[in-house]
Amino acid sequence: MSLKSLTPLTPDQAEIQRLARDFAQNEIAPCAAEWDRRSHFEPRLIKQLGDLGFLGMLVPEEHGGLGLDNLTYLIALEEIAAADASAAVLMSVHNSLPTQMLLKYGNADQKRRFLMPMAHGELLGAFALSESEAGSDAASLSVQAVRDGDSWILDGTKSWVTSGDHAGVILAMARTDTPGMRRGARGISTFIITPDLPGFTVGKREDKMGLRASPTVQLVFDRMRVPADRLVGDEGQGFVYAMQSLEHGRLGIAAQSVGIARHALELSIAYANERRQFGHLIKEFEGIQFKLADMATRVHSARALLHAAAAAKDRGESVGPFTSMAKLQASETAMWVTTQAIQIFGGYGYMKDYPVERLFRDAKVTEIYEGTSEIQRIVIGRALTHS
Ligand code: CAA
Repeated sequence: MSLKSLTPLTPDQAEIQRLARDFAQNEIAPCAAEWDRRSHFEPRLIKQLGDLGFLGMLVPEEHGGLGLDNLTYLIALEEIAAADASAAVLMSVHNSLPTQMLLKYGNADQKRRFLMPMAHGELLGAFALSESEAGSDAASLSVQAVRDGDSWILDGTKSWVTSGDHAGVILAMARTDTPGMRRGARGISTFIITPDLPGFTVGKREDKMGLRASPTVQLVFDRMRVPADRLVGDEGQGFVYAMQSLEHGRLGIAAQSVGIARHALELSIAYANERRQFGHLIKEFEGIQFKLADMATRVHSARALLHAAAAAKDRGESVGPFTSMAKLQASETAMWVTTQAIQIFGGYGYMKDYPVERLFRDAKVTEIYEGTSEIQRIVIGRALTHS
């Protein structure tokens, strides 16, 4: 029985899926365990993903991208995640957050200077919203931007920035309201930051439970001078832009989660086919079959909701809470399925010699970043009860 998508694919989508799977299985999968062990970020991935066009999948051809639809992008992302969740988050954050912001709200000059090289894979993108005191409550962020002639001066520290130490372009949210007149979510603006700006430094690199091959860093802005033409869109709209980008990003994290869960299921089936106990292959035990059946059902359900949300988005429909549903279901599926995988592997599952241990650690963050499961439930609950 196939674990692959039930969604009917066009010939082009099937071709991109095959391309992504071949690349992921040949170039990434053999290295994933080693990169995880050494917490090693592999820079060649940026070049390779860029050469494939995978860092500009959603960017129209006129801006240097492949101009593909969301469903095709998410199908490719699942394949990358099924090889290495760390590589998948690099691709997801880049394509969803900074790229979507520049595509929707960047002006022509910003698109030419930043979006085009990002779509070619020459510049990696990052997204800096969270701060140590502003995680789920993102609108309470405190990095301050003050206008000074033709520049803005940004002061403060951003936390948990994926790929922040390798990014050539960072879309950062900062307060542009004044301490005496705070405007909440409407007092936040978005700036294009590049590492060459005076006052920019990379701070602490986090030592994480999972996704160890994907760097997560602090970014320190010490009276950093940012040219005024780096403001994205309208002043005071940065929080709304960030939320809209996250609506897109959450689809990417859902695809990453489906990839992790599918990989754990594939490994579990293979193990059940070879492991003998009590004189039998363990696949013959109903207890193992029931587990595998529930795992497969959840993987297919999570993917079906994700693909339905992506297809609706591609038809131009508003999908707000459905992206949260897709992320919620897929990330909780990844955590549950990887937990079952450890149980099927037993003692071996708990050892670092076997890959399911890494998948279990990688799965956890999908319930946390780009909005915790609790935040997704808030978004869904508000949409259901909004009159
Ligand atoms: N689209 C457009 N506008 C939106 C929006 C959306 N999806 N969501 C909110 N807004 C608007 C609201 O309409 C509101 O506008 P008004 O000022 O006109 O009323 C404004 O934004 C403020 O919205 P809320 O009142 O709903 O704001 P809130 O403070 O209650 O927060 C929240 C809402 C959903 C809890 C939000 O804070 C949230 O999503 N928090 C989680 C943050 C998050 O996901 N962080 C991820 C960090 S990035 C990351 O992880 C990337 C990585 O590197 C992997």
